[in-house]
Amino acid sequence: MQTADGARRDIVSVNLGQRTYDIHIGENLLQEAGRYIAPLLSRPFAAIVTDENVARHHLKALEASLTAAGIVSVAIILPAGEKTKCFTALADLCEQLLAAGVERQDKVIAFGGGVIGDLTGFAAAILRRGVEFIQVPTTLLSQVDSSVGGKTGINSAHGKNLIGAFLQPVMVLADTSLLETLPRRELAAGYAEVAKYGLLGDLSFFEWLEANSEILLRGDAQARAYAIHRSCSAKAAIVAQDETEQGMRALLNLGHTFGHALEKATGYSSRLLHGEGVAIGMVQAFRFSEHLNHCKAGTADRVARHLKAAGLPTHMNEIEGPLPPVSDLVNIMKQDKKAQSGKLTFILARAIGDAFIARSVPESAVADFLKEDLKSK
Ligand code: GLY
Repeated sequence: MQTADGARRDIVSVNLGQRTYDIHIGENLLQEAGRYIAPLLSRPFAAIVTDENVARHHLKALEASLTAAGIVSVAIILPAGEKTKCFTALADLCEQLLAAGVERQDKVIAFGGGVIGDLTGFAAAILRRGVEFIQVPTTLLSQVDSSVGGKTGINSAHGKNLIGAFLQPVMVLADTSLLETLPRRELAAGYAEVAKYGLLGDLSFFEWLEANSEILLRGDAQARAYAIHRSCSAKAAIVAQDETEQGMRALLNLGHTFGHALEKATGYSSRLLHGEGVAIGMVQAFRFSEHLNHCKAGTADRVARHLKAAGLPTHMNEIEGPLPPVSDLVNIMKQDKKAQSGKLTFILARAIGDAFIARSVPESAVADFLKEDLKSK
């Protein structure tokens, strides 16, 4: 669909019965946020949760749009970065939301990337035993993945995203113009999650990305909108079938068991962004699949070539500074949410676009693979 001034608008529905919601994707949507949000409110009031970087670039525009729609808003501004996904920040956010007078019928707006979306969604899930929230994702990663599907939570000393709840947002507003102020490194990190959808279940999308990733990353609006729409559609279809990850939703974790372990091993610091961990993890998932003879030799190299061209790291050795020994990495992986009866679960692949869930993967096989992988570069 196009607006009168030619701007592209897409809607993807996440079909979950009474909790069905729409993802609106388009340019300059932020200017219209008030008009989209007003009909969802029980009174003309909303709390915005954001981080310092997003606030600097975009908070005024969101506030102005809410004001124009007659909505009074309060803004809570948190430090940027993965370290904010912790108990201390959660407690502080809940207290600030209560101090701002957020009632049970009010909506909280998560305005930021994956950290803000995950933290705010979890705060919403527990505040007054549950308030509704709206996702206004501002990064490529959050527009194609974390704002959709209702996973909310924080990190633990034991690992990534280990404490949280499922709470679906009531709407997602993905303004693709916001990506213009995103640092190149953040954009590439988000691109890893776009590539993930092709790698896990859609060879033709991966081939499209091979042909178009360069213009997409350079800023081509049509290519971005198409990739975001296609990614959200793929995620919505999976979430509609398996909301709480009893089965196939785990496929969305391609590269995440390795990636999360590396994020934890690097202290959730700027040494490794989430999407960078996922990029390295996806290449490892394909190399591990080759190592176990599930997929053809050379497949992982094709995956690595593509992600490297997008500006992403594709090997553990590219992470600055020391990493813990393989045995520690495997121990971190044992805390992964997909582990069952103490056994590791990995998302492996038969080919690009054909991922599957491998349960009960022996620790020794993972350790052997990681030792070999560390030596391979
Ligand atoms: N990011 C993985 C999921 O939402 O299931």
